[in-house]
Amino acid sequence: MEGPDSQRQVGSLMRKRLVVGNWKMNGGLAANATLLAAVAGSWKQLPGREIAVCVPYPYLAQAQAALQGTAVGWGAQDVSEHVSGAYTGEVSAGMLAEFGCRYVLTGHSERRQHFGDTDAGVGAKTVAAMRAGLIPIACVGETLAERDGGMTGPVVLRQLDAVLSALAQGAAAPWVLAYEPVWAIGTGRTAAPSEAQEVHATLRARLAAAGMKDVPLLYGGSVKAGNAAALFAMADIDGGLIGGASLDAAEFLAIAAA
Ligand code: PGA
Repeated sequence: MEGPDSQRQVGSLMRKRLVVGNWKMNGGLAANATLLAAVAGSWKQLPGREIAVCVPYPYLAQAQAALQGTAVGWGAQDVSEHVSGAYTGEVSAGMLAEFGCRYVLTGHSERRQHFGDTDAGVGAKTVAAMRAGLIPIACVGETLAERDGGMTGPVVLRQLDAVLSALAQGAAAPWVLAYEPVWAIGTGRTAAPSEAQEVHATLRARLAAAGMKDVPLLYGGSVKAGNAAALFAMADIDGGLIGGASLDAAEFLAIAAA
């Protein structure tokens, strides 16, 4: 049954429950086949849910083959801000579109922490994704030190503002914002629903001020089947970005059903 939340219209993207798996650098052809088959076989039991998996680049063709013809979307975990050219090791948004990607993550904290993604670079990647017709899922989130220093609001707003100012340069297409507190990613320590909601409300207010109040807002960071429903019940949490738990089909599908 679709609840009232699934009816919230968002420009051209419905603010229906969106649950996106982020496989990170995990997987292998055999394990992926099992996982993708389970997801492909179950989406019909999840009406009112939009489900997608963001897989490593080499597995995009496998995800496409397994998921095409279903309502489950697929996508990548990063994208170049450039269209083409001498950028060894990079993958363009146009290339992702050729493999049927619907989504792509931009600015995941692991890219920011380990690979030098800057606020401005994340904005540029988000715009590049939109220009190729993809739905970027731009990620923001504070570290534990920033939270303990009372800097959560300023940090996530600074990260969001960089995306908003890049979007103001011209692109106006559906996109998604994900709040992922760095201290909750892969640590088993989830933000309490009220803690997450507080940040989501801050982000929603900034989006509203930019005329984008209905951009779907996902929460990510140690979401599991056991805590998903409480998080998703919050007024400004429209779904989840799921890391570790998305590698287990039963767990991922239980989160999607929450
Ligand atoms: P986690 O990761 O669910 O394993 O905490 C979330 C993410 O990094 O997207």
